[in-house]
Amino acid sequence: MEKILLATRNKDKIAEIKEILKDLDIQLLTAYDFPKLPEVIEDRSTIAGNAIKKATESANFSGFPTLADDTGLFVNALNDAPGVYSARYAGENCSYKDNRLKLLQEMNNITEREAEFRTVVAFAFPGKLIATAEGKVLGKITRKEIGANGFGYDAIFRAIETGKTFGEMTREEKEKISHRGRAFQKIIKVIKSEPRIDTDQ
Ligand code: IMP
Repeated sequence: MEKILLATRNKDKIAEIKEILKDLDIQLLTAYDFPKLPEVIEDRSTIAGNAIKKATESANFSGFPTLADDTGLFVNALNDAPGVYSARYAGENCSYKDNRLKLLQEMNNITEREAEFRTVVAFAFPGKLIATAEGKVLGKITRKEIGANGFGYDAIFRAIETGKTFGEMTREEKEKISHRGRAFQKIIKVIKSEPRIDTDQ
């Protein structure tokens, strides 16, 4: 069975992505299988740039086909902030909760609450970027936290398509419409078409 590295140490992402890829006949490794895998500095100006950097550097280090995703929450009224800086919006080493509270605070007097989650996933072989895929979902920033599921900004993002926050959705419900679910559904097609990765064995 072909091994693919998912280049992240984020356990919330790992849980979601394992579920999304569960029907692929692959063995999914993570950064926890490579204790010496260098932490990739996310210093590119776009989520695509960061995803490509993480996937290519981790593929080169590990020697395995590698997937890496980068996600941002882009809020219209804040000129697309926090965007590429979503992880450290409230400062270096801040918690998910710090980020949510900062965003609610910034949006305090703002009535236009439209926002978009975007994920770019990159797929690389050692020495070669194979493909990138993007997934997006539109929503609105709530006025308070609603729902205890998910992670990150999930409790304050109400998806237009369901009228529920990601914090109120089960993992399966979120996966069907989420930025990450959509990006990975596209990359699954690429993985299945790669001759070096035999997903039927
Ligand atoms: P990353 O750079 O891809 O790890 O994501 C940046 C930040 O966006 C994370 O630290 C989370 O706060 C947030 N984030 C990423 N994915 C999601 C999601 O699916 N729901 C809510 N927040 C997320």
